[in-house]
Amino acid sequence: MARLAVFASGTGSNFVAIAQAVRPTRHTVEFLLCDVAKAPVLDRAKELGVPTFPISYAGEKRESVEKKIVRHLERRQVDIVALAGFMKLLTPWFLEAFKGPVINIHPSLLPKYPGVHGIDESFASDDGELGITVIRVDAGVDTGPVILQKSFRREAEETRKQVEFRIHQLEHEWYPQVLISMLDRVDVGAAP
Ligand code: GRF
Repeated sequence: MARLAVFASGTGSNFVAIAQAVRPTRHTVEFLLCDVAKAPVLDRAKELGVPTFPISYAGEKRESVEKKIVRHLERRQVDIVALAGFMKLLTPWFLEAFKGPVINIHPSLLPKYPGVHGIDESFASDDGELGITVIRVDAGVDTGPVILQKSFRREAEETRKQVEFRIHQLEHEWYPQVLISMLDRVDVGAAP
């Protein structure tokens, strides 16, 4: 078995998709880390029986928060971290200190529309092809190496809500699959 931790700040639909997909495998979601008190994702974790690790950055040096996080990851022997709507940037120090890969999902076809408005900017564009990207996190904002991209052809009359729905559908289908195949590789001693 291999161990995953998920970091999230908000709604948690990707967290739910990941936790449900990992449950029937030999792997585990060791904990959900959340930096926002009362975020809905904390309730989703409780419903699914996944331990939570609430953390606050308020009035703390980023480095001391990240040290606590790394200690917890080590204690729980986590192999891979998956970001799923986690709104804090991780520092180069963290990416060096945690030895496993840190993976993120982004709701656009990177390098187009990095940052927090990926869906709005995708929708507002003239692009006929929209989609999602799974990346390995590096020190930049949505700049890491691409692991997977999936796209769809948008219809001319589609609303923003419909586009958002299709983007989330792709995320929920593909992000868990990428993570599980990485956990499988860890399990057999290969580089994830
Ligand atoms: C997703 O669209 C993901 O691509 C982005 O943040 C959003 C999180 O949504 N990084 P949810 O909290 O998983 O519903």
